[in-house]
Order: sequence, then structure tokens, then C-alpha cells
Amino acid sequence: MKTAFITGITGQDGSYLAEHLLDLGYKVVAMMRRSATPDTSRFAHIEDRLTICHGDLMDQSSLMRLMSEHKPDEIYNLAAQSFVHASFHEPIHTSEVTGLGVMRMLEAVRLCAPKARFYQASSSEMFGDVFETPQTETTPFHPRSPYGVAKVYGHWATVNYRESYDMFACSGILFNHESPRRGTEFVTRKISDHVAAIAFGEKNQLALGNLDAQRDWGFAGDYVRGMHLMLQHDKADDYVISTGTTQTVREFCKIAFERVGLNYEDYVVVDPKFFRPAEVELLLGDATKAKEVLGWEPEVDFQGLVEMMVDADLKRRMVMGNSPTRGSLPEGLV
Ligand code: NAP
Ligand code: GDD
Repeated sequence: MKTAFITGITGQDGSYLAEHLLDLGYKVVAMMRRSATPDTSRFAHIEDRLTICHGDLMDQSSLMRLMSEHKPDEIYNLAAQSFVHASFHEPIHTSEVTGLGVMRMLEAVRLCAPKARFYQASSSEMFGDVFETPQTETTPFHPRSPYGVAKVYGHWATVNYRESYDMFACSGILFNHESPRRGTEFVTRKISDHVAAIAFGEKNQLALGNLDAQRDWGFAGDYVRGMHLMLQHDKADDYVISTGTTQTVREFCKIAFERVGLNYEDYVVVDPKFFRPAEVELLLGDATKAKEVLGWEPEVDFQGLVEMMVDADLKRRMVMGNSPTRGSLPEGLV
């Protein structure tokens, strides 16, 4: 039985990846950092099948201890300070965790588990002020946030360790991916949760920032399959994972509100406090390489993703016995 080691298990991707690897028959060792208020809700349904361990990307010795102890076959480095907006307020912390944290992981792997295959969670945010559209593995980077800068560092550290030490290290350049388990600070989940709250009469308004930003949004459950496939290939490489379509925040709002029979224009207001000092205006990925080399394809489209997220936030309220006071429930949920 192969052992996979995941950092970032409490996050969105950690939970989907752990499910996928368990289904494939892996022993999954998953790392959490110490917290006074640990939140295991995203993986509670599979917790008894995981080996949970404690470590922190800020602490080199914990990473080396865990690599020596578990000697994993595959390592998925998903942990990061991943919220772009917060990275403007906490740039040093973001650089430490999201940038230097990758170097700490790579050193721990090099010294304590050099035969392991390593996946780094790189990001389309690295393209930033894009040089070309669509973006591919060869598009130059121009990051627009401390988070993006830190991810570029982590990406090149991964490439450098592959080239310097012959390590099997892959960088997955993933475009935005969402799900009902997405954090509510990210725009898609903020919208889906507010749509449900507005339908149930808990809220009357949704305040957002830049409605014209365009993103290539996919489903997290599809994207973790791509991570795993990268580590199964006979050669370590870098891959874009994306849907190849792009929509605005406004379009996300429109479909999400339509799902409950409401018009987004009646509820959405723009609040400049959600603007960023520098914005990434347009992301659109070309995942041809992942399709041709790995056989990876997304299964959920944009409309399906929005509806899945809104429905989950509606259902959460319905099981608590609450009833909607505005609009109408989607047919399948009535
Ligand atoms: P997420 O939900 O924000 O999860 C981040 C994880 O990192 C959490 O488990 C968090 O633990 C952990 N973490 C933060 N600081 C840590 C530290 N110092 N030591 C150990 N763990 C730490 O992010 P996600 O959406 O699952 O994304 C997974 C990865 O993919 C991230 O690296 C992200 O930057 C990258 N990525 C995401 C997307 C996307 O659209 N989702 C796209 C491209 C790349 P706590 O719960 O303790 O905070
Ligand atoms: N979060 C948020 N909140 N974003 C808003 C809001 C709002 O109220 N209003 C408009 N937006 C716009 C942002 O300005 C941005 O252009 C877009 O919505 C998406 O924002 P986020 O959902 O926060 O995601 P992101 O694109 O900045 O970053 C995500 O995707 C990256 C991959 O490209 C994160 O998951 C990163 O970790 C990931 O690397």
C-alpha cells in the first residue's frame, strides 16, 4: 500500500484529495498545524481513515521529523496562506508560509525522504497581469499580490530542486477551483452563501468588490484528480489545470441568484473595501498539456459548479428546519 502525505488537510483541497487517495487505496497521512480551535469539519467524514499528524510549514524540524517518520511515497504540499486579499495585509507571514514554506518542505524531502514524489500547489495567480491569453505552462509570470509573489518563489524552488537534485517534483499551476467546502472569504462561496442567506431572510444585501474580474473557475473535486495524475507520470513536470472558460464575478452572481428565482441586481452592492491594491483582471487557462499527457479532463462545468454551491448552502439551512422567505427553491430541492 502506497503512503501519501498531505499538508493543508483542514483546507478545501486537502479534504477532496484525501477522499480521492483513500478511494484509490492509499494510506493517507495528513498534517495539521497546532491551533487552539482546530477545525476538522471538512474531513470529519473520513477522519477515522486518516493518520493525522502535527507540523507547521513555519517549523523546519517538524517537517523533517514527519518525513523521517512516515517515509511517504507521494507528498502533496497544499498548505499555504491562500487568501490573496489577506496577503496585502500580512505580506511577511504570507511570504514565510506560502513562499519559504515550500523551500522548507523541499529541504525536508531532500534530506529525509529523497525518493518521494512531490507535488507543489502552484497557482494561476502567478500569471497576474497576464502576458497572453490563454495562459499555458510557458506564459511568463507577473504576480500582482504578495501571495502571487510567494507562489512564484515556491514554483521556482520546486523546479530548481527537480533540476538540482533529480527529485521527482511537480508544480501544478491550478486555476481557481471551488466547491461547497470553499472558505466563505473567497468570492464564489461568499456569493453562494449570501444567496442562500438572502433567500432564507437572514440577509438583505451582498457587498462585493470588483464585479468585472474574470476567472477560470472549476470544481475542486476534478482538480485533485489532476494533482494525483501528475505524480503517476514517468517524468516530473509542470502542468496547467483549468477549464478553458472564463466568467466574470457578475456572471457568477447572476446564475447564483437565478438559482433561487432572484435578480442579483436587487441585492448586490459594490463596496470599495473589497477592492485590492492591485487586481488580476483576467485568468483563462489552457490545460491542453494535462489533457494530452495525463488524460485529465474536468467533469463539472461553470453552471453546474454554481448550482452545486448554491444548492449546498440552501440544503444546509433546510436541514436545520428553516424555510425560505424570498424567491423559490430549485426544483430538485423542493
Ligand atoms: P485553503 O482552503 O486556504 O487551505 C489552506 C491550508 O493550509 C489549510 O489547511 C491551512 O490550515 C493550511 N496552512 C496554513 N498555514 C499553515 C502553516 N503554517 N503550516 C501548516 N499548514 C498551514 O486552500 P485550498 O483552496 O485548499 O488550496 C490548497 C492549495 O492550493 C493552497 O496552497 C493554495 O494556495 C493553492 N491553490 C488554490 C487554488 C484554489 O482556487 N483553491 C488555486 C491555485 C492554487 P489552517 O486550517 O490551520 O489555516
Ligand atoms: N474574495 C473576494 N471577496 N473577492 C472578490 C470580492 C469579494 O467580496 N468582490 C470581488 N472579488 C473579486 C476579487 O477582486 C478577484 O478578482 C476575484 O473576485 C476572485 O477573488 P477570490 O475568490 O478571493 O480568489 P482569487 O482569484 O483572488 O484567488 C484564488 O484563486 C487563486 C488561483 O488563481 C485563491 O484560491 C488563491 O489561493 C488561488 O491561488
